[in-house]
Amino acid sequence: MVCLGNICRSPLAQGILEDLAKKRGLSIKVDSAGTGSWHIGSSPDQRSIEVAKNHNIDISTQKARQFNTKDFKYFDKIYVMDTMNYSNIIRLCSNKIECEKVELILKATDPEERLSVPDPYYDNDGFENVYKLLKSACDEIIKKTPTNGKR
Ligand code: 4NP
Repeated sequence: MVCLGNICRSPLAQGILEDLAKKRGLSIKVDSAGTGSWHIGSSPDQRSIEVAKNHNIDISTQKARQFNTKDFKYFDKIYVMDTMNYSNIIRLCSNKIECEKVELILKATDPEERLSVPDPYYDNDGFENVYKLLKSACDEIIKKTPTNGKR
């Protein structure tokens, strides 16, 4: 799960997908990262922690990190939150296999569109909306995840 700062959207996406995987007994490794470096080592934004907590998900122990090209090898899928994240990550992939792992997360719910999860950083009211968008997308992702975790 990738966004800009790795403190608002992607930690929430990580928490939601981990929670769904756990409930289904799927052992998949979920992680998140930012394209930017400003918040490396920081906990998620308090507003994301609160929204997650309201839905019985604890993301408070996550720590922000920056996306690394090794992530292309380690992960089967790289879900990006918005079109800017997409451009920044696709610039870093080095072959077809790596580039094809990158996908806008909202393609899971609207495959014909190129929709972005809005950046809620400057919008206190935006966090619950972000949660709803990510929950719907993660529901679709988990439905399509075979029980061995491979996609
Ligand atoms: P995120 O939100 O990409 O969802 O983590 C943001 C976090 C920090 C900033 C922008 C967006 N920032 O400008 O510091």
